[in-house]
Amino acid sequence: MEVIDVIKEASRRVYENVKDLAGTDDAAGDFGRGAGGDISRNIDVTAEKTVLDYLREINFECIVLGEECGRVELSDKPKGFIIMDAIDGSANAVRGVPFFCCSLAFAKEDKLSSITDGVVIDLTNGNMYWASKGKGAFLNENKIKVHGEEPVYRIVGVNASGADANLLEKLQPIFEKHNHIRHLGANALEMALFARGLMDVFIDLRKKIRIQDIAAGYLIVKEAGGLLLDENLKPLDSDLSYKTRLSFVAASNQKMLDEIMSQMK
Ligand code: IPD
Ligand code: CA
Repeated sequence: MEVIDVIKEASRRVYENVKDLAGTDDAAGDFGRGAGGDISRNIDVTAEKTVLDYLREINFECIVLGEECGRVELSDKPKGFIIMDAIDGSANAVRGVPFFCCSLAFAKEDKLSSITDGVVIDLTNGNMYWASKGKGAFLNENKIKVHGEEPVYRIVGVNASGADANLLEKLQPIFEKHNHIRHLGANALEMALFARGLMDVFIDLRKKIRIQDIAAGYLIVKEAGGLLLDENLKPLDSDLSYKTRLSFVAASNQKMLDEIMSQMK
C-alpha cells in the first residue's frame, strides 16, 4: 500500500468517526494538556485514536508525531514520521463552526522539506485535499492549482488571532488596503483553500504555527504551485520538533508576494 493511500484511509476514518460529534457537548470533554500545549478535547482525542488504531491495524512502521498524543513509536524500524493534527480548527469543531479538518503528512526525515505525502480532509463534508511530492496536488480526483490570473475579488488570508501590538502595527496597512481579509480558524484547511485558488495570499506571521498545523498544507501548497516562504522570505523549512513555532507567507505568484510585502510596515 502506498503511503498516500494509508493517510487517505486514516483521514476517511477520522471523518466517519467525528462527523456527528462536532458541535456537541461531548466534543468538548477535557483530557488535559496535549503535547502541542493546548487542552486536548474529546474530539481531538477521538480523531487521534482513529488514526493510531488504523496505523496499528495495518502495522504501518512509523513514528507518529501527534499534536495531542506526542511522539508515539509504532515500530523500531520506522519508515519515517506521520505528522498528525487529527483536528485542526479544534475551537471551530467544538463550537460547531463548520470549518475544521484533519491534517496528516508523511516525512522520511526530521524536516518539513522531506515530506513526501500530505492529506487535509475537510471534516464538514469529506472533501479530501492531497499531494504526493512531484505528482501535483488534488481535491478528491481533480488536480488543483493556486490562482493564476488577477482574481475578480482579491481574497487575502491573514491569521492575526492572538497577534501582539507590534505585529498588528506591521499588518495594519494590509487590513486597511484590502477589503476581503479572511481568517477562518483552521490553518491547514486555509492552506488547502489557498492551494485550490480560492485565496491569493495567506499570511501567518505570529510565530505560533506548530509543525502539525502546517505539515500537510506545506506539501499541498507547494505541489499546487504556490510560493511558501518564511518571515525572511526564504523557502520555508524546519525540523519537526515540538518546540518549533513558525511564521509563513504563502502567495500565488511573485507579483502578489511583492505587492503584499511592500504594503507591510
Ligand atoms: C489552530 C488553528 C488556528 C490557528 C492556531 C492553531 P488547532 O490549530 O490552525 O487557525 O490560529 O494557531 O493552533 O489548535 O485547532 O489544532
Ligand atoms: Ca492544529
